[in-house]
This record gives sequence, C-alpha cells and structure tokens, in this order.
Amino acid sequence: MLAIHSIVDLRSDTVTQPTDAMREAMCRAPVGDDVMGEDPTVRELEVYTAALFGREAGLFVPSGTMANQAAVRSWCRNGDEALVVSDAHVFYYEAGSAAGLSGVQLNLVPAVDGVFDIADFSSRIRPENDPHFPLTRLFWIENTHNRGGGKIVPLDTIRSLHELGRSRSIPVHIDGARLINAAVATGIPADRWGNACDSLSVCLSKGLGAPVGSVLIGSEPFIARCRRARKALGGGMRQAGIIAAAGLFALRNNIDRLAVDHDRARRFARGVRAISGYRVPETVDTNIVMVDLDDRVPFDAAELQRRLETWGIRLFSVRQRRVRAVFHLSLPDDCVERAVDAFKRAINNE
Ligand SMILES: Cc1ncc(COP(=O)(O)O)c(C=O)c1O
Repeated sequence: MLAIHSIVDLRSDTVTQPTDAMREAMCRAPVGDDVMGEDPTVRELEVYTAALFGREAGLFVPSGTMANQAAVRSWCRNGDEALVVSDAHVFYYEAGSAAGLSGVQLNLVPAVDGVFDIADFSSRIRPENDPHFPLTRLFWIENTHNRGGGKIVPLDTIRSLHELGRSRSIPVHIDGARLINAAVATGIPADRWGNACDSLSVCLSKGLGAPVGSVLIGSEPFIARCRRARKALGGGMRQAGIIAAAGLFALRNNIDRLAVDHDRARRFARGVRAISGYRVPETVDTNIVMVDLDDRVPFDAAELQRRLETWGIRLFSVRQRRVRAVFHLSLPDDCVERAVDAFKRAINNE
C-alpha cells in the first residue's frame, strides 16, 4: 500500500489542499449573514473579483455548477434555447440541470476543443417570427475548455461572437472555471476577457487552490437576477465569509503561480509524447493534458489508469482510450518525472 504522500494526484485541480496560510485567513475572516447581504468578506470577494475582470458586480456561489445554472436561469426563460459549444461542462457534466431545473434547451454548436466558428453560432439562431422554434436567448462558451484539454479560446474569437451577439441581442456567457489560467498563459489581463462577454464565472476551487466556491460576474441587473436564482437553487449561504476568505486569499496569492502548472503540464506532455504507444497533442495551452492510447496498444484507458495507480499516479480515464492529467498547486516538485516514469512502466506492464 502506498503512503498518501507518495501519491501524485493528477485527477483534477479540484483536489488541492488549503495551505496553513489560507486556513489562517479563513479563521480571521469577519463574517455576517450573507443572505441578508451582511457578510463583509463575501462582499469584499465579490467586489475584488468583479474589479479583476473589469466588471460592475459579482456574486459568490458554492460551486461552478451552481454558477452555470444560475447564469442559464438568469439569461433564459422556460422553453428558451441556449447555443452551447460542444462538450461543454454545462451540457456534459451537470446532470441535465439546464433542462431539469430551468426548462432551458441546450443546442450544441460544433467546436474543436472549445474553439468554434462564428458561422456555426450564427446559422443556429432561430427565426423569432416562426412559432415552431424556441427563442435563442444565450451563447455559451467555455474557456479554458475542460474536455478540450485546457484549450484556450482566443480572445479575438470571443470578441467576434460578442459582436454577433450584440447585433442579435443575444448575450455571451463564458464558463470561465479556468479563465484565469487563460489569462496567465496568454498574458492577456483578466479585464480584457471580462469585457469580451456579457457575463462569466470563475472557479476559486480549481487551480487557484481554494476549498470551495465560484464567482459570477457581470452587470448589476444580471447579478441581481443571479442572486435570486442562487436562492432558488439553494445556494444562499449564511456566514460564508469563512470560505470567501479562502477565495480572496487564492486570488491575491495564487494567480501568478498557475504558470508553474502550465510549465509542468508542457514538460509532462513532452515526456509522454516521447514514449511509444501514447499520443499527446502538440500544444498544451494550460494545466490539462489529454493522453490517448494509440491503436496498437492492446488495453484501454481504464486499464492504463489501473496500471498507473500501482505506480502512485492517480488520474481519470475520460474516454475509452484517453486519460487526463491535471496539474495543480498541491503536487510534489518531482511530479512530472514520476508521472512520465509511471507512463513508461505502464505501457511495458512492469
Ligand atoms: C469548465 C467547468 N465548468 C464548471 C465546472 C463545475 O465546477 P464545480 O465542480 O465546482 O461544480 C467545472 C468542474 O470541473 C468545469 O471544469
């Protein structure tokens, strides 16, 4: 049995552990009843995050999923349609909640790792004067794209979609669970991404290392609608400053170090690419690396996952012949070397 400290956990950047300094900040946080709007630390986090993205207002919510569902519910009514890039988290991993909780139909727009062609959005906008069709009320993109291997959707592409949206009165929402990774990797500051859309969300509990929470960002009226949606979804929290403090700490201390995760992801990709039997994308934009088994390998991703685990490397198989490695701040310094070594051993069945 391997000791816990010898495990390299690449399953997700959600497995990070709060540091002592973060816990200290949580202990000291002044708190109040946030549903009554009286928690000063939550307020500070909301103002800080909105300012970071150059926008008017923010709303602290318990999870990325709730951020997504509150956004869908705030932009759309029952029976409306949202155009969503294919393989998006809101479609793939949220238990059908857009339909189940808000009666919103998601229509998928083809995209390669989250990167889309504007024409594919434009051609799917429904004609408003024909009662057969739902009303197209929202454009939804994801940056970086999770199932697309942490791919960055370029700012110019998003701006073009925003222009199209403006011309048709359709807002653009960015599921920006890892948008700060995109900002760090490109060097394009957060406020420029924030101004290329109508609303966005950002997760504090992924690469930034907080234990819980996301922030929705946009105009005052949008955030007011989201506040109501958050209550409806059961996400109104009371002395939430204790967890908001961790988010503030993460935003103040852990943004620049995301570059370390990106560098590790690239080094890992280089190492695994050199091993016969694996296929790894030529470019790795941020902290996620997808590794495919090539056709000659006689076992599948679930078996690869099992073999890697015996060498102390934990990750998820995300398709039949694909595993995903995610780099984050709670990994040991030698994580890349150990992971590459385990991939070598796993293919040779050592
Ligand atoms: C792109 C994206 N959006 C939303 C979420 C949901 O976040 P949470 O797990 O906090 O609900 C995730 C989680 O991995 C994600 O990758």
